[in-house]
Amino acid sequence: MSNVAVIGSQWGDEGKGKIVDWLSEKADVIVRFQGGHNAGHTLVVNNITYKLKLLPSGIVRKNKISIIGNGVVIDPWALLSEIKQIKKLGIKITNKNLFIADNATLILPLHKELDGIREDSKNTDKIGTTRRGIGPAYEDKVGRRAIRVMDLANKKNLSKKINMMLFHHDSIRKSLGKSKINKKKLIKDLGKISSKILKYSKPIWKKIMEFKKKNKTILFEGAQGVLLDVDHGTYPFVTSSNTLAGAAFTGTGCGPDTINYILGIVKAYTTRVGEGPFPTELKNEIGNEIGKRGKEFGTVTNRKRRCGWFDAVLVKQSCVISGIHGIALTKIDVLDEFKDLYVCVGYKLNGKKIDYLPSSLLDQNKVKPIYKRFDGWLKNTKGIKKWNKLPQNAQKYIKFIKNYCDVRISTISTGPKREDTIFLENPFR
Ligand code: GDP
Ligand code: IMO
Ligand code: MG
Repeated sequence: MSNVAVIGSQWGDEGKGKIVDWLSEKADVIVRFQGGHNAGHTLVVNNITYKLKLLPSGIVRKNKISIIGNGVVIDPWALLSEIKQIKKLGIKITNKNLFIADNATLILPLHKELDGIREDSKNTDKIGTTRRGIGPAYEDKVGRRAIRVMDLANKKNLSKKINMMLFHHDSIRKSLGKSKINKKKLIKDLGKISSKILKYSKPIWKKIMEFKKKNKTILFEGAQGVLLDVDHGTYPFVTSSNTLAGAAFTGTGCGPDTINYILGIVKAYTTRVGEGPFPTELKNEIGNEIGKRGKEFGTVTNRKRRCGWFDAVLVKQSCVISGIHGIALTKIDVLDEFKDLYVCVGYKLNGKKIDYLPSSLLDQNKVKPIYKRFDGWLKNTKGIKKWNKLPQNAQKYIKFIKNYCDVRISTISTGPKREDTIFLENPFR
């Protein structure tokens, strides 16, 4: 028995959904452990496209258990709407195949509103958030005033907890010239959905313990990516959760010995959505071409993703920080038509060569990439399923990434469909 964590190794959107869906064939249980509906994971199965935000990517497979962990921030209205939408595509979702942590934090409309106010304010740095209320909800969690899933079960206690939360929020709103939150309406709105949410609610740490005892295989599905981690990412241009594999333990309540293999999902080039440093960004025709070929538009907000060359320095750093054993390299087919390819292998900072991304935002904005050039393969790789069918130059490019980042290659993805995959090493060893 072995369990696997899948995490993004860049700035998100590396293709985690597709790989989790592919791997979930071999898993019994699929668990989300951090983030919220800022995530957008796309799966293409039998020509049907599923865009998942809060639901784990294993939900589309039959006879699998999906779990939303306590580390996730849940907008209950967004979750119910997603369940409805995915059910319409023929997927069965019941309280037998979906469990949500009874101690997960809720995102309320006031969080979403605050996220938007900050983004629109001229007095704060625009982060380019997804405006889903993610940051404000996590703030309330660590501020010990969050409303959690189980709070929906007791109206009297809920009212008391909302008072405590509004003591904080109404004072902020007053200073921003906003009206007080309508508490009655909030309680009424929560009352309308509480039973629909509570029916999935469980102490999921206990469920996971039971699955472990039964030797079930568990797949932990990360959202975002290491460079958006609140501690290790390009702070403050990050999300508000820890996105590293380590978050799987706190975000579900299972011990560190639960996970045997950490799979980092890595895109064959680099993208970022939202503001913040991006050393290898291509603000030119090549960047536009990568974006066009890779269909690089955000799943959640439909924003155009910024595109650039592969940054091996950043991926190596992510592999170390997150303890990645092997990687799944995705979207290699997007590079099929480029004559020359470049990989960043170091930075110049104040005239000196460095081999890591410094923590200071000022330095992150100053670093200049040092590139190594590769001959493109100028051949179609879309849909290839065997390593030896890949063009020589594609093999060289991938081997370089493997050696530079000092990781194994588990999987190579050659297209958006489930079956467009080269499988080299089984993470479920
Ligand atoms: P996630 O957030 O990491 O799950 O990634 P997204 O779903 O936001 O973005 C990845 C996009 O790339 C989706 O549209 C996928 O369908 C698509 N995709 C995934 N793997 C591949 C691949 O190997 N090749 C191509 N061309 N598209 C891919
Ligand atoms: P998946 O799981 C890419 C980015 C936002 C913004 C920053 C903070 O699909 O890879 P937030 O709303 O989280 O407070 O926004 O983080 N961001 C993502 N970028 N993929 C994601 O998720 C993201 N989730 C958040 O664009 O820059
Ligand atoms: Mg995404």
